[in-house]
Amino acid sequence: MASVTFDKATRLYPGGDKPAVDQLELEIEDGEFLVLVGPSGCGKSTSLRMLAGLEDVNGGAIRIGDRDVTHLPPKDRDIAMVFQNYALYPHMSVADNMGFALKIAGEDKATIRRKVEDAAKMLDLTQYLDRKPKALSGGQRQRVAMGRAIVRKPQVFLMDEPLSNLDAKLRVSTRTQIAALQRDLGITTVYVTHDQVEAMTMGDRVAVLKDGLLQQVDTPRNMYDRPANLFVAGFIGSPAMNLVEVPITDGGVKFGDSVVPVSREALTAAADAGDRTVTVGVRPEHFDVADSGGLTITVNVVEELGADGYVYGVTPAEKGSQDIVVRVGGRQVPEKGSTLHVVPRPAEIHVFSTSSGARLSD
Ligand SMILES: Nc1ncnc2c1ncn2[C@@H]1O[C@H](COP(=O)(O)OP(=O)(O)O)[C@@H](O)[C@H]1O
Ligand SMILES: [Mg+2]
Repeated sequence: MASVTFDKATRLYPGGDKPAVDQLELEIEDGEFLVLVGPSGCGKSTSLRMLAGLEDVNGGAIRIGDRDVTHLPPKDRDIAMVFQNYALYPHMSVADNMGFALKIAGEDKATIRRKVEDAAKMLDLTQYLDRKPKALSGGQRQRVAMGRAIVRKPQVFLMDEPLSNLDAKLRVSTRTQIAALQRDLGITTVYVTHDQVEAMTMGDRVAVLKDGLLQQVDTPRNMYDRPANLFVAGFIGSPAMNLVEVPITDGGVKFGDSVVPVSREALTAAADAGDRTVTVGVRPEHFDVADSGGLTITVNVVEELGADGYVYGVTPAEKGSQDIVVRVGGRQVPEKGSTLHVVPRPAEIHVFSTSSGARLSD
């Protein structure tokens, strides 16, 4: 087992005008489950492939433990990768698929059999060992791909959207299984997904990428409570955080018809940047419904979930109108078409610079 370090690792594809991954700095602890997340094209697969040795590194370095692997071929890195499409050999049985890398490495038959059987037991695949991949369900194939990685007992697991070919329900249950398995095995894992819910539920820590640039690395809890910038604020959380551009007033911001207090540091930082507004983030669960004041919302859609509900509405804004999502108690769900006044809880708001997007509040 080992830690993994991206030390300003950069990948510029031939003919590209800007790096697909730009000076990535990331330290993953021994045994940690780190999830790389971001929208399509942000450089997740490229980062993982650089770590695997499948992609050249054009600047910086990559280390596994204290070994500099930047220019080592994939086979010398002691990693195992699980791909989105599983890449199983169709003509081989499940057992042979799982044991293939060990066979190539010259291990004896009895050892291979034992390791394959151990992994099969962990993954609930024992009864399928003699089948061919085509006689398996998607979820079973996914587990064979996992098994193939596990039998090698690598220093690092790499997984690139391994659940994206499963249906929604199976994806949720498999997510839990993979996280539990990783915890049992204690093998350092870098897991790539575009799905922020997957990232938040699986990772010890989450790293958010955008346009090849690392935005924030944090525990899921901190990522939710203290997003570092507007991008992370809007990307993490479902339904997404409401982001409202509001004018700065004395000691606070003018939030609809109310003044919401904001720390002096945040206001000073905004003024220093020459901004007359800040962008305030409010999660749907951090609004209180009021008789008057605050934002006036016209309710468009109400999603009743029993214990609570989500109200989707619009509020007048500088440029036309703005969508707002509010969580309300299950017994206080408003009528569609009605008007609602909501005020953010001052202690729960997030303040961002309108011009740079950086977080200004603590
Ligand atoms: N082999 C390649 N050659 C040139 N550009 C590539 C190649 N692979 C990926 N890219 C570009 O690099 C960027 C990052 O891609 P990728 O790492 O696959 O993103 P993600 O996995 O986050 O969707 C994208 O703009 C993509 O078009
Ligand atoms: Mg990808």
